[in-house]
Amino acid sequence: MKRYLALDIGGTKIACGRFTEDGLLEEKILFPTRAERGYKEILKDIVSVLLRLKTEDTIALGVGTAGPLDRIKGEIYSPPNLPGWDGVPLKKDLYENLKIPIFIDNDANAACLGEYIFGAGKGVKNMVYVTVSTGIGGGIIINGSLVHGVRDSAGEVGHQTIVPDGPLCNCGNKGCLEALSSGTAIAKRAMEEINSGKDTILKQWAKNEKITAKHVREAMLMGDEVAREIWNNAMEYLGIGIGNIITIVSPERVVIGGSIGLSGKDVIEKIREVVKRRVFLVPVDMVDIVQAELGEDVGIYGAFAVALVEMRNRGGD
Ligand code: BGC
Ligand code: NA
Ligand code: ZN
Repeated sequence: MKRYLALDIGGTKIACGRFTEDGLLEEKILFPTRAERGYKEILKDIVSVLLRLKTEDTIALGVGTAGPLDRIKGEIYSPPNLPGWDGVPLKKDLYENLKIPIFIDNDANAACLGEYIFGAGKGVKNMVYVTVSTGIGGGIIINGSLVHGVRDSAGEVGHQTIVPDGPLCNCGNKGCLEALSSGTAIAKRAMEEINSGKDTILKQWAKNEKITAKHVREAMLMGDEVAREIWNNAMEYLGIGIGNIITIVSPERVVIGGSIGLSGKDVIEKIREVVKRRVFLVPVDMVDIVQAELGEDVGIYGAFAVALVEMRNRGGD
């Protein structure tokens, strides 16, 4: 039996897995990125975990990582949420340690392909995937293939400008969707409200732990008004961003993933509501907006899918 390794590198966590060629996830290992450590340290952990997972019959490694990147060279160019990854030769470094073919794509592109083959994308030929977590990323599949664009930057939907002169984004622009609706943005907004003296339960919580988007959601569900406003604003902007994508691509299906995207059914409902209100020229009733189905394993399924498709294209089998 042939096997594949899969690696998903995100701003908050890294997931590694081993799959059989027919898509069974046999083993997975997750660990925190701790992005502030920088590339070299993170690479060491990745390599040691992948070597632990690798078997004799492992024929390739698929990688999904935050971009920008060059898939063919396998270099990564300063992703907003991976500080210090400035032109790092990820593919070369992984190859030196693993000595098997390596296929890299943007993490959201990979997840898009994963959902397309194994999850919520079944049955359509045109779909968009949007992940909302530490950052916001996307993947676009048209006529059954991922769109890559100039230096693999197509689908960077988190960096569309939504609010001119809005909050600064880690990419350098202002008012990006990611700076308004990502988990990072929601947590940052909460800290601003706490520091400005607003009356919110989050203020008590902030004394003991670092406030995250999860706390904001929890406070909102408890009826906290400040948290509700932060959350709703973020989701309104998310709906606008997704509406823009629908206007441009007119996909049959939009699949929403990531920890924020999957935090509740209300997220999808809110997106549908905003899209109905904002999109006029695409018949939105014909566009399904659904949750991702692969849950927290979407990243490794995606990375596996990237390698699987490439190995099949090579005519390996
Ligand atoms: C990056 C994308 C990535 C997304 C999710 C964004 O900040 O620009 O390349 O897909 O985060 O990790
Ligand atoms: Na992408
Ligand atoms: Zn940006």
